[in-house]
Amino acid sequence: MTKAPVDRSSPMDSPLQARLRKVVVTAGGLAGVTIEKRMDDATFVHGHSALTTDLLHRVAATPGMITLRRAMYLYWLSYAGSVAGDVIEIGSWQGRSTIALAQGCADSENGVVHAIDTFRGNPGNESMYVVGAEDRSDLEPNFHRNIAAAGLTDRVVTHAMSSTEAVGEVAAAVNGVRMMYIDGEHSYDAVREELELYAPLLSPGGLLTFDDYSTRYPGVADAIHEHLAAAGDDYVRPVQDDNFLVIRRRT
Ligand SMILES: C[S@@+](CC[C@H](N)C(=O)[O-])C[C@H]1O[C@@H](n2cnc3c(N)ncnc32)[C@H](O)[C@@H]1O
Repeated sequence: MTKAPVDRSSPMDSPLQARLRKVVVTAGGLAGVTIEKRMDDATFVHGHSALTTDLLHRVAATPGMITLRRAMYLYWLSYAGSVAGDVIEIGSWQGRSTIALAQGCADSENGVVHAIDTFRGNPGNESMYVVGAEDRSDLEPNFHRNIAAAGLTDRVVTHAMSSTEAVGEVAAAVNGVRMMYIDGEHSYDAVREELELYAPLLSPGGLLTFDDYSTRYPGVADAIHEHLAAAGDDYVRPVQDDNFLVIRRRT
């Protein structure tokens, strides 16, 4: 038995792809060929909600060092948190993770992202962070442009300096901290210091999250383990997804 052709429409389709698929399905129908449609596509309701697919397009259009899947995790953690307050991000680069976090703030009407970055790239690895200008002088203007293009300028407060330098002004500016995302310099000393300076700002029930929790960056893992060991009962058991780590502070 020959199988009916399948309409593989996806919410990730561009408007042009969506129109083309519709033309093919309609033409098939006129020619008497039934094109099977996937059930989930048939159930979409449009116009009432924020669409994660819109966010995915914006995230995909922004240079970034995290996967789209990771960006969606950040979005959901930022959106779904039950604690009121702001998000602190250390290491924004061109704004991919910032956009996911800030969209979560916007959609949940809950706080802003304090984005901390030197916009110089990671020490010793600077060439990896070049986008256009060799001297990386375009990193900060690019970041602001990407945030504006995502329509999220109102949800992002930028601190263009090192995490050590920024802690005073960030601590003074936040309205409670419900989530932290640490993805800056991946050395033991940097992460240990960031935890020492920033973890006390986290509200009860807030989330501490990390990128690059992996054997590739033993210093990151060591600093986190040391922090957890010293914190005793302050946190519940961490949850790991690949090299992403999420730790909830007890209420
Ligand atoms: C891995 S990238 C961040 C990637 C980003 N989260 C994304 O979604 O693509 C690390 C960033 O941390 C920044 N950085 C490195 N050391 C820093 C420090 N001590 N303070 C603040 N930012 C730092 C670098 O400039 C770089 O942009």
